[in-house]
Amino acid sequence: MVLFQRCLTRTFSLGQRKLSGSPQQEKVANMQAWASIRPHYQSCWVGARSYGTEGAGGLSERTLIAVKPDGVQRRLVGQIIQRFEKRGFKLVGLKMLKAPEELLSQHYHDLSKKPFYPSLLRYMGSGPLVVMVWEGYNVVSTSRKMVGDTNPAEAPPGSIRGDFSIHISRNVVHASDSLDGAQREIQLWFNCKELTDWDCHDQSSTFHL
Ligand code: TYD
Repeated sequence: MVLFQRCLTRTFSLGQRKLSGSPQQEKVANMQAWASIRPHYQSCWVGARSYGTEGAGGLSERTLIAVKPDGVQRRLVGQIIQRFEKRGFKLVGLKMLKAPEELLSQHYHDLSKKPFYPSLLRYMGSGPLVVMVWEGYNVVSTSRKMVGDTNPAEAPPGSIRGDFSIHISRNVVHASDSLDGAQREIQLWFNCKELTDWDCHDQSSTFHL
């Protein structure tokens, strides 16, 4: 029950960042925000290894990676998945969906005041996305490096954006930028039942502690 309350508190705090006003107005707005994203957001705190980020670089650290609509249209999904598999990370969740605007606005709530925000939301909602959760040692930070700079013009060759894209408005892939961000985004896009705990048989070949 305590864990479930933590989940609710976290959900409502997402709404609070977006909205201001009297405490009563905030409460109503937060209830509306909760109702609208509820199908996407269930109690992922329940379960032994749901997020398992036992400190930075934990073995069961998880991150959210999404192939954006341009990546799906250009049939890059397989190549992007292959990079994470080859690197040694473990896929624990994957789905394809056309994201509703409410979900996208929650995902990008930090950018809502930016001039590019409306076109970003239009583009992200323009076609299907492939959203994934990857697990492994230091996966948040390593996957940001694998993805490359936000602006593909500055992303080094060898990174996903550096190899597959040329302009910031169509940069193929999303990766969570911090442990907190990863946790928030995984909870937003997946419910617990959609994530699978499993053991890699080659685990001892990818790290030793
Ligand atoms: P941001 O979260 O800053 O970058 P990242 O995806 O690398 O974490 O921005 C989110 C997305 O917004 C970014 O991937 C592409 C888009 N964007 C623009 O279209 N124009 C811009 O000037 C910026 C900064 C981002």
